[in-house]
Amino acid sequence: MTDKEQILSLRSELHRHNYNYYVKSAPTISDREFDEKMHLLMQLEERHPELYDPNSPSQRVGSDLSHEFVQVRHRYPMLSLANTYNRADVQAFYDRVSQGLGGQAFDICCELKFDGLSISLIYEQGRLVRAVTRGDGEQGDDVTANVKTIRSIPLILNGGNYPDSFEIRGEVLMPWVSFETLNRQREMQGEPLFANPRNAASGTLKSKNSKVVAERRLDAYFYYLLGTELPTDSHYDNLQTVGRWGFKISDAMRTVRTLQEVMDYIDYWDKERSNLPVATDGIVLKVNSIAQQQELGYTAKTPRWAIAYKFQAERALTRLNEVTFQVGRTGAVTPVANMEPVHLSGTIVRRASLHNEDYIRALDLHIGDMVYVEKAGEIIPQVVGVERDERSEVSGNGLATPSPDTRTLEHPDTQSTAVTFPKTCPECGTPLVRYEGEAAHYCPNDATCPPQIKGKIEHFISRDAMNIDSLGPETVADYFERGLIHNVADLYELTVADITGGNTSRERSAQRVVQGIEASKQVPFERTLYALGIRFVGKVTARLIARHFRRLDKIIDCTLDDLLAVDGVGGVVAASVKHYFSEPKNMEIVNRLRSYGVQFEVSDKPSAAVNGQNAVLAGQSIVISGTFEHHSREEYKALIEDCGGKNVSSISAKTSFVLAGENMGPSKQEKALQLGIPLMTESEFLSLIGDAAGIASSSPVSSPPGESEGEASNLQSPTSNPKAPQQLDLFD
Ligand code: IVH
Repeated sequence: MTDKEQILSLRSELHRHNYNYYVKSAPTISDREFDEKMHLLMQLEERHPELYDPNSPSQRVGSDLSHEFVQVRHRYPMLSLANTYNRADVQAFYDRVSQGLGGQAFDICCELKFDGLSISLIYEQGRLVRAVTRGDGEQGDDVTANVKTIRSIPLILNGGNYPDSFEIRGEVLMPWVSFETLNRQREMQGEPLFANPRNAASGTLKSKNSKVVAERRLDAYFYYLLGTELPTDSHYDNLQTVGRWGFKISDAMRTVRTLQEVMDYIDYWDKERSNLPVATDGIVLKVNSIAQQQELGYTAKTPRWAIAYKFQAERALTRLNEVTFQVGRTGAVTPVANMEPVHLSGTIVRRASLHNEDYIRALDLHIGDMVYVEKAGEIIPQVVGVERDERSEVSGNGLATPSPDTRTLEHPDTQSTAVTFPKTCPECGTPLVRYEGEAAHYCPNDATCPPQIKGKIEHFISRDAMNIDSLGPETVADYFERGLIHNVADLYELTVADITGGNTSRERSAQRVVQGIEASKQVPFERTLYALGIRFVGKVTARLIARHFRRLDKIIDCTLDDLLAVDGVGGVVAASVKHYFSEPKNMEIVNRLRSYGVQFEVSDKPSAAVNGQNAVLAGQSIVISGTFEHHSREEYKALIEDCGGKNVSSISAKTSFVLAGENMGPSKQEKALQLGIPLMTESEFLSLIGDAAGIASSSPVSSPPGESEGEASNLQSPTSNPKAPQQLDLFD
């Protein structure tokens, strides 16, 4: 088989496996075999840039290259649906349709209303050519590069009986599991949480870095085929057909005749939806015949042939017993409602977030109140209201006026005290501060406030940081309570004798702890920098800063502008880094860590390469073009310099070679060809510099969630949004 034949065959095989896995949920090969085939395809494609195909399955990995979105006008405007929350309106819709069709018989297609963001895809000759968000309904953002990373969206269609050109609409969603994993990661990195999967999906799809999108595992269901030559007159049958072309359609779709059947469908899914892998917020009812849809037509904004029935968010009423205040690693104080246990959407809820002082004030919350609890995005419980009629009023003279309600009378001594936010930290007594423009209160005592210290140490030892896996939250709490550790530097002075406290049965585990701490001294600088727990400095930011400055001293001494010059570092991060190193107490810890031998500079192997025999790129001018699998362009620039080469931006007769990634621009290709400059693939380049730069064992570089600029507006920031959830450990 020629390389070309092999590439084509791997592409079609991988398309099929993607479909089986992500659309049909019925894989026919193991993940490992899939990865091997993908790897082989990517290698072959790298060797043959002339066979580049934007719809190859390899394009699903996304790219680190930041891209701006181009606005595109929709061929057919993206309308919304009329909404209702009550069944009387559903009946009115049914009657209106019947009347509008002059008494003809009609079928209704009942569907789930998926709670994500709508997307419109255009296919030509069976290939995805464009994906556009709803935008204002008239024009939206071209998000094709991001959409291609969604594995359940076909890049090339199955079969051959599809129209030459058509548009299809559906919903991009973040499945519950991906949402939960993402928020857990964000919490560990001290980043604001997404309030619900819809915000997370929308923030992700609008990310400027398609690699972030690829990692976040979005999904998509399709519910509307547009065009003049539809396969049949039945909307339902058309969707079954598009299912065969490769699109994911919902199994929950049904066609019914009677109003009673519609109501039964609503009843069924109102309960069953909690078992679905993705969020839904209602039911969509559509007249099934396309001809009848046309007969009914549209109002200015919505079709007359469809309506959305929205589910009521599940709510429970229970008594507020107490409000406690939880202090997190960053010192943020979160008020937590402790309530009589109550059933809500399948779990028993005892605690719920009250967000911040403003939120408590707006609720006018009193201890003993009967409160309404909802699950925000159905996962994080929160108090959304107070049943005022059930409160024992405190009259002007301070005496309680008991409510006649029996539930209140069961608590005759409830004096209905208003909930107030503490002035001092509930853990250490330090006066709390509230920074201008922020809704949260903070305990500024990060040096001795117990939950802050324990939280910081837990972060320091975590897997992505110093990876001291012989320690865990309980051991940290134990050592802290026994006075063995007060900060991360103390870990390095722990001895086996300290840990065992004379108890010989603890000796083995104490040895493992000490060994684990010792081993952490070899953890590379970028992870040590992350481990320090500087606010807003997640894994990727730490890596960018470490690789840019290469030594901690340079970061300590640098200016704000120096930090802003690092690709990927913005004002908030830069200010936070400067602030961290300006604090003497932080510097004391940093200096102690340094004295124990923790890595505070990038491994010196590359500089040895420059100075020694291995300066493999000495005197060479190299142009970088395209996108890469193993490292970002910034990292390749650094590697070239490490190996004595020079990175230049445009191709000239002096260029030694072009480091050519995927999607290398055609003009660059042409210029290189004209001037006879050789192209080097990523793997060729890596093997050329391999040992010299000490990168042989490096793993693929990928951005973690939340570090792209494109999603900021979708975040529920604990600092700016009064309703922002801040902690996940609140919840049962
Ligand atoms: S049909 C002209 N079907 O709900 C009708 N929409 O307010 C086009 N949605 O923007 C939409 N599930 O994002 C349709 N099964 C479904 C849907 C659905 C969710 C969303 C969609 C639309 C919004 C309508």
